[in-house]
Amino acid sequence: LVATVGVVSGAVIVFDDTPGSNRTFDGIGGLSGGGATSKLLVNYPETLRNEILDFLFLPNFGASLQILKVEIGGDAQSTDGTEASHMHNSWEENYLRGYEWWLIREAKLRNPNIKLYGLPWGFPGWVGQGTSNPYTNASVLADYVVRWVLGAQQVYNQKIDYIGIWNERNYDVNYIKTLRSTLDKRGFQNTLIVAADGGWDIVNDIQKDAQLSAIIYAVGVHYPGTNSPTSAQTSGHALWASEDFSTFNDEVGAGCWARILNQNYVNGLMTATISWNLIASYYPSLPFFRDGLMTAIEPWSGNYAVNSPIWVSAHTTQFTSVGWKYLQHGSGVGKLPNGGSYVGLYSPTRSDLTIIIETMTHDHSLCIRPSLPPYTVTPQDVTIALKGDFANITALNVWFTQLNFGGTPSETFINKGQVQVVNGSVQLSLGLDQIYTLTTLSGGVKGSYPPPPDSKPFPLPYSDDFESSTLFQEPNNLAQQTGSFEVLKFGSNQFIRQMMLSAPLTWCQAEKVGKAINIIGNSSWEDLYVEVDFQLPAVNGSTGVFVAARINNGGCPVNSALGIFLFALSNGTYILANDAARSKVITSGRLPPGGGWHKLSLFIQEEVAYLAYDEQPLVIVVGIPSKPSSGFAGIGTDSFGLADFDNLYIAGSK
Ligand code: GAL
Repeated sequence: LVATVGVVSGAVIVFDDTPGSNRTFDGIGGLSGGGATSKLLVNYPETLRNEILDFLFLPNFGASLQILKVEIGGDAQSTDGTEASHMHNSWEENYLRGYEWWLIREAKLRNPNIKLYGLPWGFPGWVGQGTSNPYTNASVLADYVVRWVLGAQQVYNQKIDYIGIWNERNYDVNYIKTLRSTLDKRGFQNTLIVAADGGWDIVNDIQKDAQLSAIIYAVGVHYPGTNSPTSAQTSGHALWASEDFSTFNDEVGAGCWARILNQNYVNGLMTATISWNLIASYYPSLPFFRDGLMTAIEPWSGNYAVNSPIWVSAHTTQFTSVGWKYLQHGSGVGKLPNGGSYVGLYSPTRSDLTIIIETMTHDHSLCIRPSLPPYTVTPQDVTIALKGDFANITALNVWFTQLNFGGTPSETFINKGQVQVVNGSVQLSLGLDQIYTLTTLSGGVKGSYPPPPDSKPFPLPYSDDFESSTLFQEPNNLAQQTGSFEVLKFGSNQFIRQMMLSAPLTWCQAEKVGKAINIIGNSSWEDLYVEVDFQLPAVNGSTGVFVAARINNGGCPVNSALGIFLFALSNGTYILANDAARSKVITSGRLPPGGGWHKLSLFIQEEVAYLAYDEQPLVIVVGIPSKPSSGFAGIGTDSFGLADFDNLYIAGSK
């Protein structure tokens, strides 16, 4: 046991509830979305998928998260893909789309007490009522968002605890008020507003406007760097890091997470911290790879990784509950004399106490943003002194993490047994990059499953006729970057349709490309055969479709994606282009006439492209651009509008 009992030495850190409590703990959470961050998790083999979900949500097992935040899909690119809206159009709604509903249910099955929080990144175009501003008609937007809350209740019997405004974009005070009144009118008085998922500027509006202040529950800010301004601290509101982390999930990422989980409260009085993202389940070359608490990117092999941030989370989540109280600064919350920090939380009945101590060094706890001012941590001995209602605690359970760097594996979330409290105190020798939890609770578990299957590359040849996909869901493995694709059925045939009729109110500028782009496979593919059947519906149809290989960009930069794109257009022509925007035309020609379903095929071998239509050669192009030299396969549309696809087939990479 690293914790030793003995002569009092080092600084004395007091944990005492006599001065009273400070703020209420609102929980540690993960964010699925913003966007499409859980895409590849969905079609994992069920047993493995359940294991992964257990590591995320099961109490006393893994990260045991207390909040699940999800994107309210808006058919818009929101970082690693687009998520489906429940209302592609004003005249319809459907709550069987996308995977967030599924995730919500899986989380709630494991932890009925997990809090649910929804936030939009973008919106279907119609919400703007002819403008690019979602606040043009506050009632339209509020109706759109509250329908999502109602869908959760009516279709899934789930209560949405918190609702946000517009991720990292401007908020509108009139809209926030309209949202509140619409929620109230439809019976959702208990769905609380978090505002405004951006910076601290909302605090100024709260100070000026008592009515606004009264309807906001938590001030939610992103990447606060553990600090909050005095104006926020005195605003009378809960303060949340409603998005934070976004750091590669290696040991430095774990260090970041450990530091901010404590210091968001110690420095900034923030009572909830939510990780972007929940789980890194998107293709490796998409933006912000592995910025999740764990990683699951191979549904075809079943391989996944439980990264250290999971166990860092466990140090807090397995020994606290939403509604616990933080002790006051100086009597259970603060900085350690030689660097590092501690928080003390206790149960409402005061019967249980949990202390979390972290000693993350600067270079081993860097987060993606903001930059971290220099500081030093050195090893130190401390004496934990228990006072007030805690004076009669006789033993504490000890959990320990040592993050290691430079090859030695970390020791994460190790049960060190019990330490006896002697004369109201416990002595600890703290090293560097360590986490200790000392708690009266005995329930912690470092959950485990047999090692997952070995990693494998995306399997080729690959085909999907979508017959085994679930209606209205996205197709497996196809990671939509713009547009919104879903499985539909006509007669006995299932196929996928691009549903979005016009550009969304964007979160980033991805949709400027004017095309729906759906990528699949592996960004290192060079030579490839890709074919797909397509048809263009007569009403609201797109002006064409494409198949592509060597697509080099996803995420917001998909806007400028290069690759080799073969378009078949409704005007009876084909175009081979070097970019998704088809501004870099390589060649073009005429297609055989006729509507209905057609097969479009592209085969690329080094700098030769073979184009075919309905299995008849169109042209062989020698000397296609050599850049990009590799990339994803893809399918998509030439303009926003309906297009149907079936029988995707990919083969033969080098
Ligand atoms: C945030 C954004 C997320 C994701 C993240 C990447 O600002 O809300 O959706 O893009 O950055 O670090």
